[in-house]
Amino acid sequence: MGTILVTGGAGYIGSHVCLAVAEAGHDVVVVDNLVNGSATAVERVGELTGASIELHVVDVTDRAALDRALDAHDVDAAIHLAGLKSVGESMAEPLRYYDVNINAAISLIGALERHGVFRLVFSSSATVYGEPDGVPIPETARRRSINPYGRTKQLQEDLFFDVAAADPRWHIGLLRYFNPVGAHPSGRIGEDPAGTPNNLMPYLMQVAVGRRDDLTVFGDDYPTPDGTCIRDYLHVVDLADGHVAALDALDDVAGCRPWNLGTGEGYSVLEVIGAASRAIGRPVPHEVGPRRPGDVPELVADVTRAQNELGWRAERDLAAMCADHWRWQQQNPDGYRVGA
Ligand code: UD1
Repeated sequence: MGTILVTGGAGYIGSHVCLAVAEAGHDVVVVDNLVNGSATAVERVGELTGASIELHVVDVTDRAALDRALDAHDVDAAIHLAGLKSVGESMAEPLRYYDVNINAAISLIGALERHGVFRLVFSSSATVYGEPDGVPIPETARRRSINPYGRTKQLQEDLFFDVAAADPRWHIGLLRYFNPVGAHPSGRIGEDPAGTPNNLMPYLMQVAVGRRDDLTVFGDDYPTPDGTCIRDYLHVVDLADGHVAALDALDDVAGCRPWNLGTGEGYSVLEVIGAASRAIGRPVPHEVGPRRPGDVPELVADVTRAQNELGWRAERDLAAMCADHWRWQQQNPDGYRVGA
């Protein structure tokens, strides 16, 4: 047991990671600039776990502020989730994406080194695989991300590989997330996207709760059984548990090691809409529109390595992902902005 620094711990995935890490018996310190996170999320993780979680409202790129946060705690390992994450935004503002995401990684590595912390788990993404040669995708697949956001993930991975190769004190795990959805079953923490959601599940749930009109299905002429794209959706609680498993495995990692986190099973957009409609108890209105540029027909994880090396596997099915996401959305129709 030790103290774990979680950057981006006030965000959707970060808050669930904090909860899992606290439940595993660690102390948790959060660093988050709250651009896309909420202090309420951190408070609620404290309520749910009974842990006292300190939030430093700090931008990870601010090296002096990060040093001060690390000075205040005896940190054993870090989980790095902070960063910008919208594909569309990254295509419109590539410089900002490179600036924020790459500088955050550089700043964090330096601060951790100065404080003698050499254990790191990084929030990477299946987006690094771009359009894969085949599915399921193993970690050995070539990385060829097709947008600036994905390239910032790939570059951060490269940075971590190089740093770990140069200094054997480092143990770094790269977690390549597939499509995280759902929420903690309490309904107290969940996804609260700023502005219009980019991703399927939050958009669908905002339609279901009456915040938005019809959901658009982006294309039904893909080479898949029902013509809509297939993704590997995984429950955010399983994903968060994967971080604890990665922390536990770090000592056995020589250098830097990537692990896919997914279920290994793919569902189409229409299958997700069907499962969500059953969880909600009525059909979610949707119409078919044109393809979204940059989407690939099918992304599914090969999860063998995570199972073998982390002893981790996703346990929650699509019905649970939808039911839990819906509970959060119903109890918090406007996210953290009301009823906080
Ligand atoms: C997206 C990002 C990916 C990022 C991930 C984080 C793109 C191209 N990729 O993955 O880099 O790591 O989110 O979770 O944005 N869909 C609809 N209607 C909608 C929204 C989505 O039909 O309103 C479809 C998409 O076409 C896709 C599927 O739903 O086929 C999943 O989309 P989304 O949730 O955005 O995830 P990804 O695109 O897989």
